[in-house]
Amino acid sequence: MPETDLTLARTGGRALTRIVYSAEQIAERVREMGRQIADELPADEPVLVLGLLKGSFIFLSDLVREITRPLQVDFLVASSYGSGTTSSGEVKLLYDPNAEFRGRHVIVVEDIVDSGTTLNRLLPMLEERGPRSLEVCTLLHKHIAANLVKEPRWVGFDAPHEFLIGYGLDHSEDFRNLPFIGSL
Ligand code: IMP
Ligand code: MG
Repeated sequence: MPETDLTLARTGGRALTRIVYSAEQIAERVREMGRQIADELPADEPVLVLGLLKGSFIFLSDLVREITRPLQVDFLVASSYGSGTTSSGEVKLLYDPNAEFRGRHVIVVEDIVDSGTTLNRLLPMLEERGPRSLEVCTLLHKHIAANLVKEPRWVGFDAPHEFLIGYGLDHSEDFRNLPFIGSL
């Protein structure tokens, strides 16, 4: 699909207004991030890459192929209590891996950090499991969150304060399959 053809990016009356990051820009940045992560992790120590579903599924699958060192992958499904766009600040784990954290460098992979609620609730829970280290890698960071318990160590792009879709990011479950990231 040519990226200028935005008709695919029209669903349920919502249409894309502009492309923010093209598939090529994303691929280049993900390659750089993978290289950086591989360089910064201690060699010969076990690494667990933990993808936060669903939003990170495309980013994670591209990213791990650019981290050229042994690692393992698991997933976590977290959901905010409450409905709609207002988060009550509670995070419930819908799927929790039984992967061992002790002795391992754990990298949490997020699609986007917005208010920071998800990470602020999740990271202390994961820290309790005693990982050797716990770091966050996010593709997008809106830099809105005022009091993040931990700043992501690896950030793909400093994102505009707009609602972004595509490359895994959804609006009411639509648009995840777009190969680029756009603004609604
Ligand atoms: P936070 O807890 O407010 O930081 O939000 C994190 C989650 O909200 C992300 O993992 C996304 O699933 C979702 N989210 C936040 N901003 C956007 C956006 O612009 N587009 C799509 N999803 C978003
Ligand atoms: Mg989402």
